Amino acid sequence: MACCASCQSVVARDFGSGRRRGEVRPARVDGTEPIHVFMIDVEGQPVGWIQWYWWTHYPAHAAQLGAESGSAGIDLAIGEEAMTGRGLGTAAIGQFLRKIVSAESVFCDPEEANVRSLRAFEKAGFTAMHSVQLAGEDFRRRVVRLTRSRSYPA
Ligand SMILES: CC(C)(COP(=O)(O)OP(=O)(O)OC[C@H]1O[C@@H](n2cnc3c(N)ncnc32)[C@H](O)[C@@H]1OP(=O)(O)O)[C@@H](O)C(=O)NCCC(=O)NCCS
Repeated sequence: MACCASCQSVVARDFGSGRRRGEVRPARVDGTEPIHVFMIDVEGQPVGWIQWYWWTHYPAHAAQLGAESGSAGIDLAIGEEAMTGRGLGTAAIGQFLRKIVSAESVFCDPEEANVRSLRAFEKAGFTAMHSVQLAGEDFRRRVVRLTRSRSYPA
């Protein structure tokens, strides 16, 4: 499944780091990665995607973030530009954590320059931690963490 042009455009804007639309790698769902991908819809209309995975499946990346064994990661994108900045990202993260992701702690690593994403994670209950520069990348990411017992009781 490839991202639509609108989605690529929004992702290029918010994932930042000088990447232009043509440089954004389209998302793909082919069953080869242990990642659980869901569509975000608003009144039946798909507007984006959200996914989760166990960090234990990505040990090299997890080690760079300090994500412990048993923790999960999530990523998301609202693909319709007109639908961003309306609270949907924050709401999608919150619903995903309440209904789908059962991990005790969740680590994510939005780009430091992606203020919109950082703010959405913070509003959903995450705490901003340290920043990291991953091997092979020329920009910094901010590690954000949520501990379920504090913000999303079972
Ligand atoms: C990041 C994303 C998921 C956030 O979802 P969203 O629905 O647009 O975000 P929300 O409306 O829930 O919250 C955005 C917050 O960021 C703030 N914000 C937006 N742009 C900002 C800026 N340039 N500077 C400071 N704050 C900004 C908004 O004011 C809002 O905070 P507030 O409610 O306190 O005013 C969405 O914009 C998106 O999909 N972007 C493209 C892909 C991406 O970056 N994904 C995340 C990668 S980890």
